[in-house]
Amino acid sequence: MCGIVGYIGPKPAVPYLLDGLKRLEYRGYDSAGVALLGEHGLQVLKTVGKVSQLSLKVSRARSEHVGFGHTRWATHGVPSEANAHPHLSADGKIALIHNGIIENYQPLREELKSEGVLFRSETDTEVLVHLIARHYHGDLAEAVRIALGLISGAYGICVLHQNEPDRIVVAKMGSPLLIGLGADESFIASDQQALVGHSDRFIVLEDGEMAVVRATDVSVFTVDMQPVEREAIELAEELERIDQGDYAHFMLKEIFEQPRTISDAFAGRLLPEEGGVRLGGIAPVIDRLKACKRLILTACGTSWHAALVGEYILEDMLRIPVEVEYASEFRYRNPVIDEDCCVIAISQSGETADTLAAMKEAKRKGALVLGICNRVGSAIARESHAGVYLHAGPEIGVASTKAFTSQLVVLILLAVHMGRLRNLGYNHGRQVVDELRALPGRVQEILDSSEHIRAIAEKLAGHNNALYLGRGPFFPVALEGALKLKEISYIHAEGYPAAEMKHGPIALIDENMPVIVIAPRDDNYDKVISNIQEVRARRGKVVVVATRADTKLAELADEIILIPEAQPITLPILAAIPLQLMAYYTAVKRGCDVDQPRNLAKSVTVE
Ligand code: M6R
Repeated sequence: MCGIVGYIGPKPAVPYLLDGLKRLEYRGYDSAGVALLGEHGLQVLKTVGKVSQLSLKVSRARSEHVGFGHTRWATHGVPSEANAHPHLSADGKIALIHNGIIENYQPLREELKSEGVLFRSETDTEVLVHLIARHYHGDLAEAVRIALGLISGAYGICVLHQNEPDRIVVAKMGSPLLIGLGADESFIASDQQALVGHSDRFIVLEDGEMAVVRATDVSVFTVDMQPVEREAIELAEELERIDQGDYAHFMLKEIFEQPRTISDAFAGRLLPEEGGVRLGGIAPVIDRLKACKRLILTACGTSWHAALVGEYILEDMLRIPVEVEYASEFRYRNPVIDEDCCVIAISQSGETADTLAAMKEAKRKGALVLGICNRVGSAIARESHAGVYLHAGPEIGVASTKAFTSQLVVLILLAVHMGRLRNLGYNHGRQVVDELRALPGRVQEILDSSEHIRAIAEKLAGHNNALYLGRGPFFPVALEGALKLKEISYIHAEGYPAAEMKHGPIALIDENMPVIVIAPRDDNYDKVISNIQEVRARRGKVVVVATRADTKLAELADEIILIPEAQPITLPILAAIPLQLMAYYTAVKRGCDVDQPRNLAKSVTVE
């Protein structure tokens, strides 16, 4: 969601703040602002729009050595300068930035108003700065501590007081916050990416903790004033500086990276001689995993679609019940969970608040909780008993692409690993291992046909609706194709199991409705052909994703996209690639902001 950066040290703060905000901008980008503390006192500069707009207002030549910055994803109040962070106390001496949601802000706001406090914004955040001001008696950390005791919700905050220029007070509950350590300087960031090139060691603040950050030292303590000894962590070596290369957008770069990211997901993990795989991350819990009788996969958005594909794969190979739950619904429906159950949380960012909440609920009920995520050391990685990383590298485009295919690879690895501990034979395991090894080359073949997909997408761009159909594991792939299209091109798109179409959505079909059918050769192939006939009979425009040796579909479809032949287990991965490209080229044709589509943010750290 929102991005947070802060600096205190001998150098001017602005260059780090602007560079850090730019790198975190994918997390939220409707407005931005900085607070700077120097010889002219405390100053706040804000703007609606992106960090590039803020850069026009904040000169890099400014000399203040203390400050913080924020890039916002609106929760309470429209994107406006007044609602942008930092927020100031009434006397202008305290500045605050916040990532998260203050759930009880409404009664607090009323109470403060009745005391005569004038609110300048519609945000939930502003109550906190006024509460801190109310309790400030010369000790900022103490005032923050008392104010935090009055609020409920999620937060990562940074606070400055004009009279205490040697410190930034920070606190965390639910939203990520890191403190980078340098030589006589300290950095604050809500994401490791902002620290790259500035600090190679950092402290992770945990929920319920605060810190007083000075240039030369950082003291961490709990909100109950218990001191905390926290080891510094080395910044992950594999953390790349975010770089778009020669690609027009991060999303396109990330789509084209997939041959590499897919092979990185299985690199060092395949054991062809044993017809199995090695997953070091789950070794400590392997006995419990072996004994588990039921799996629940939980996730949101694209990761939830990966879970749905995983359900087919895991159930097929393990022969135990596998369920998929929206993480956002999980804890509100009192799920039946016991110690024989393993809950697997899937997340690219490792920060999604709903997924974290689901994991906590599962743990509370005694389940073994595994995490499949991309961000090393993220909250979800830390919350799980054990897990498997995707190793896909940073994903910056808001629309998830390479993380999805890596999630599918990891789910296949998990299925083979668990399967070989149960009844899965060597030959079957070996066949899957061989399929995985062939996968990057096959993905590259699809990418090589991107111009053909672009031509189809440019026709799609003229439509306002689209229907995506698939059967079996291609139904979640259809859901994912529809999600990609709607997220970045704002075309209304629905994914449906192909056979369900005749139970309702068929009413929508006419010559203006493009229907994208995912129909690789598998056991359901003939049935899908019947579904395509039903669309054609209503003059719908049919775009088919089919396997290369297909002889029937070219005649039936208005457009056909061919993917390489493969065993069914990897076909969902192959089928997803053209859908990603189609969404991308459609959005570009419609002139949309592909990497930062309206209203969205990369990591959803609020419930
Ligand atoms: O980081 P996560 O995988 O936990 O994120 C889950 C969803 O918020 C995410 O997949 C979202 O749906 C993306 N915008 C999809 O492109």
